Amino acid sequence: MTKSVGLEPRVGYSNPTVVQVEAGLINAMGLPNPGIDVYAQEIKFSKTILRVPLIVSVFGYSAEEYALVAKRAVDAGADAVELNVSCPHVKQTGAEIGQNPQFLSDVVQMVKATVSKPLIVKLSPNVSDITLLAHAAVEAGADALTIVNTLKAIAIDTETMRPILSNVKGGLSGPAVKPVALRCVYDIHEAYGDVPIIGCGGISDWRDAVEFFLAGASAIQIGTAVAVDTEVFQTINKGVETYMRRKHIGSVKDIVGLAHHK
Ligand SMILES: Cc1cc2nc3c(=O)[nH]c(=O)nc-3n(C[C@H](O)[C@H](O)[C@H](O)COP(=O)(O)O)c2cc1C
Repeated sequence: MTKSVGLEPRVGYSNPTVVQVEAGLINAMGLPNPGIDVYAQEIKFSKTILRVPLIVSVFGYSAEEYALVAKRAVDAGADAVELNVSCPHVKQTGAEIGQNPQFLSDVVQMVKATVSKPLIVKLSPNVSDITLLAHAAVEAGADALTIVNTLKAIAIDTETMRPILSNVKGGLSGPAVKPVALRCVYDIHEAYGDVPIIGCGGISDWRDAVEFFLAGASAIQIGTAVAVDTEVFQTINKGVETYMRRKHIGSVKDIVGLAHHK
């Protein structure tokens, strides 16, 4: 899973762009990226060394731009595309698209018509009813949903008496957001049980991962926990495996959504 890439290079915001808070991080990076043309070279190189599928996260400022970036990513070798329609700190893209079912639908439809690889849509938790956005994305052609991006947040410094991040507001991630992310996954699985969900938000150990499977996710993503321990993926895989042996479960598929069963 890559960091998000757009059509043109963006330097992002000036520092501070990340601040550590209780049980998590608040970041407002400002979507820094070298642009899809440079990224395409990195995608091509990555495909020569990776032994796992490569999912490229893309963003744009219009449906056409999303589609163009997605197409270039797929042409360079991406195995799937994830649409970042949920970045909480960059205007005119991200959450401004992902919080509006009509915009969201337009973007997803256009990308779906342009690329043939699986299309994943990453939603924002900063909405009153995430199932409405999930419905719009799936109706428009999303093959899977990533649930969720960061929660809009702020940190203030008592000495300078000013917000800490240069962008003032950012997105909260890490253990603090886990129960919210888990609830979003639970809500969407309850409303649309057939939609594949990739759970994301505060996953730090095997127990977190299993909670997301039980809520309805069939895969997970890990962000903030990597900042603490780059081995976290292997540790979680081993932990899930041990749990499944102990419970005599043959496949993760067998526990997806199990928390919904009466
Ligand atoms: C420093 C930082 C940069 C991020 N950049 C992106 C990004 O480029 N695109 C995106 O879709 N999400 C981005 N995210 C959000 C994460 O992918 C993830 O949705 C969120 O942090 C919650 O998961 P976590 O608690 O495991 O980090 C970023 C998060 C952090 C902390």
